[in-house]
Amino acid sequence: MDHRRWCQFLSAVPILDPFAGSGTTLLAADNAGMMSYGFESQPLISRIAQTKLEWDVHIADFNQLVQEVLNIAEKDNSDPYEYPPLVHKCYDETNLLELDHLRKALELVRDDSKAWHMAWLAFVCIIRRTSHAGTAIGQYVLPSHGKAHVATVKDAYLNQVQIMIGDLMEMQSHGVSPQAKLIEHDARNVYSDLHDTIDLVVTSPPYANNYDYADATRLEMSVLGEITGWSDLQKLVRPGLIRSCTQMVSKERKDTYFYVDDPVLTPIHEELSVVCHEMELEREKHGGKKNYHTMAALYFYDMAHVFIALRDACKDGSKICFVIGDSAPYGVYMPVDEWLAKLALSAGFKSWEFEKLRDRNVKWKNRKHRVPLKEGHLWIKG
Ligand SMILES: C[S@@+](CC[C@H](N)C(=O)[O-])C[C@H]1O[C@@H](n2cnc3c(N)ncnc32)[C@H](O)[C@@H]1O
Repeated sequence: MDHRRWCQFLSAVPILDPFAGSGTTLLAADNAGMMSYGFESQPLISRIAQTKLEWDVHIADFNQLVQEVLNIAEKDNSDPYEYPPLVHKCYDETNLLELDHLRKALELVRDDSKAWHMAWLAFVCIIRRTSHAGTAIGQYVLPSHGKAHVATVKDAYLNQVQIMIGDLMEMQSHGVSPQAKLIEHDARNVYSDLHDTIDLVVTSPPYANNYDYADATRLEMSVLGEITGWSDLQKLVRPGLIRSCTQMVSKERKDTYFYVDDPVLTPIHEELSVVCHEMELEREKHGGKKNYHTMAALYFYDMAHVFIALRDACKDGSKICFVIGDSAPYGVYMPVDEWLAKLALSAGFKSWEFEKLRDRNVKWKNRKHRVPLKEGHLWIKG
């Protein structure tokens, strides 16, 4: 088959990534000439992904807008906006003032063009690079343990723009057009426009490993003026997310077994209740008293609803690939791959297999347990 006919064939195979994050699956689908859809319910991450999908932006327009934004920012001598204490802890005065001027310049020229979205994304990308808070992926370590060397705002911005231009040129060189559609949507709910349309699901869902996708962008959202503190995260970001960390479940603790007993969890009810009881007992032996038992119940309850929604979106004979890892909070092992597979079958899919890619026991090693963990592809067919 020649390349053009191959692209025509592939574009007829719609792909869905229900946890699209910053859009890796969707960009790969664009690259391969395939039609794809992505759901992402974290508002900032969803906006980042949407911008990345506008990779057919006119590069000269983007470059010109960046120069205009930098010129306006340089001339600005206004006092900075008011920022929450976290922001003041993470920047020295000069970088905070320059970031503030860049933010205001972007606000001034905002026209919601693709070029403007790219200039905004470059700004979002330097929020960490210009902070002296130490950063890991999606986390920060406050200044006393922070980075020694921090880029200036203008250098970081210009550097980021150059990186993005390189990526854009690479994408634009493949002779394909953007097709992917990112939808800010909670994957636990049916999305009726996609009913019975999807052939292939490729995704990396949140793991049941206490990673907090709301807190991950707290610094960025604070600098952008979208939140002022923890309670905004709780109200604006957390309600749309799979409950995969203990920070999201304290209110539900008293209802843990109400969720465990929900009919949607019938296929794993017995094993899940044993594990939740064990975690609850273990909790008493640990200072942090984390509600891992509630997190586990709600994680599987949420993922059961994801499979119900996926069954609605997927055609008969479709395939699903979940990149997934198991976990052992407080050393209590949960066979996440097997339990998710059981929930998928109960939602109407037909078969499953797990393809192990690697062993892991990194995340929990500080928790003093030696439970071997693994990560791999959970393939579901139906
Ligand atoms: C492991 S990450 C996906 C990473 C992705 N492959 C990428 O390229 O960035 C999981 C994503 O699921 C999102 N998420 C969590 N709960 C969600 C929900 N209920 N609906 C849609 N997205 C959700 C998180 O915000 C996070 O971006």
